[in-house]
Amino acid sequence: MTRKIFWKKPISSLLDASSGDKSLKRVLGPGGLLLMGIGAIIGAGIFILTGIASANYSGPALIISFMVAGAACLFTALCYAEFATMVPVAGSAYTYSYVTLGEIWAWIIGWDLVLEYLVIVAAVSVGWSGYIVHVFMTLGLYLPPALINPFGLNGGAINLPAVLIIASITALLVKGARESSNFNAVIVTIKVAVILIFLMIGVNYINPTNYTPFMPYGWSGVFKGAAIIFFAYIGFDAITTAAEEVKKPQRTIPLAIVGSLIISSILYIAVAAVLNGMVPYFEFKTTAAPVAYALEKVGIRWADIIVSVGALCGITSVLLVNMFGQTRIFFAMSRDGLLPKTFSKVHKNFKTPINGIILVGAVASVLAAFLPLNDIVELVNIGTLAAFTIVSAAVIVLRRQRPDIERPFKCPFVPLVLAAAIVFCLFLITQLPTVTHLRFLVWLLIGLAVYYFYGRRRSNLTSKHSS
Ligand code: ALA
Repeated sequence: MTRKIFWKKPISSLLDASSGDKSLKRVLGPGGLLLMGIGAIIGAGIFILTGIASANYSGPALIISFMVAGAACLFTALCYAEFATMVPVAGSAYTYSYVTLGEIWAWIIGWDLVLEYLVIVAAVSVGWSGYIVHVFMTLGLYLPPALINPFGLNGGAINLPAVLIIASITALLVKGARESSNFNAVIVTIKVAVILIFLMIGVNYINPTNYTPFMPYGWSGVFKGAAIIFFAYIGFDAITTAAEEVKKPQRTIPLAIVGSLIISSILYIAVAAVLNGMVPYFEFKTTAAPVAYALEKVGIRWADIIVSVGALCGITSVLLVNMFGQTRIFFAMSRDGLLPKTFSKVHKNFKTPINGIILVGAVASVLAAFLPLNDIVELVNIGTLAAFTIVSAAVIVLRRQRPDIERPFKCPFVPLVLAAAIVFCLFLITQLPTVTHLRFLVWLLIGLAVYYFYGRRRSNLTSKHSS
């Protein structure tokens, strides 16, 4: 038994599985994939979390926090790119650990990715709901508290806007990767335009005295801020979950991963610099919409509506791509027998894993509808950082075990970049609160129990070895 759980999936069988009738359609090109990356990355983090991180942890040194978190992601992105081009099938980090570290690690990572994608979807849909309610209020339309808050919070019964946005995106994902990608391109363009407008206006209102003190909470605050703001970068890895639907993955995936990350990092650092130059950091304590707040503070009256549109588009694309990512992870886990087979059934006409998409939509809706999800962001961060650490370690393991496999993209400066990825990610994990570490441990234990009672017995690998 102990040996079985470390069995590895042969790469050849992975590539076979991705070309049979249980495969997805290769419809995504380089532009679509780059926009998908930006779609997954820029959203609630920049439009909501920047204020919290600046006021409570980083101060004007938020710029440095963004650089630290960005560096962790860039090193990891190079590792992801090596794997994704070597094994261009659905499943991302889950699949990579299956071929290098064995089934138990693959399960742990798959379970971990559920925490990343599914919980992001639930959490940011609540942010989306907040923005749409705000837009309605600006237009003089007041929705009843019972329909816009989770059960038991501010007289709430259900967060209906969050449910409706998740339901709409579920329908779009069922239709297909190409339709989803076209829609994503439109909303990504709008959100990036809004950020650029903010930068062009805001830069004229920078008051250099707002940059002092630069680090009001010292280096410790800067690093804690980096661990929180890391959330803003999450999503570039979702590109690799689409590997099975990408045309010419060997060239397209590295370009899209690294490109989307670099573009987002530049925008983030610029926003942090302008935001903290416009308003003293401590004023962000009282606002959940820092970008609109800064513009209104300098007298731009129409700021609220334009920033709300940008935030709504941004969060919608984050929802779209992360939900997409989750369905593809379920797809891969189900194809391997670790989850019920129904989740890898591809719809005859749409060519999408319809049952998995509906399950993800349903679970995310229930979470968003009834639970207050404010504290959950840090849990998403720790889950993602753990997955990043394991993927980076897996790259070096596979280079040792299978130097013979063709690697269309090779992570440069190995082992330096790999070591840097692992050190940065582990360091950021240590900067998160202890209660987050404990919650994560509980999540992993639940996952191991599910594996023990379900996946371990049904895994395709185990049944093949024993027959
Ligand atoms: N990076 C994504 C966001 O900021 C999760 O919303």
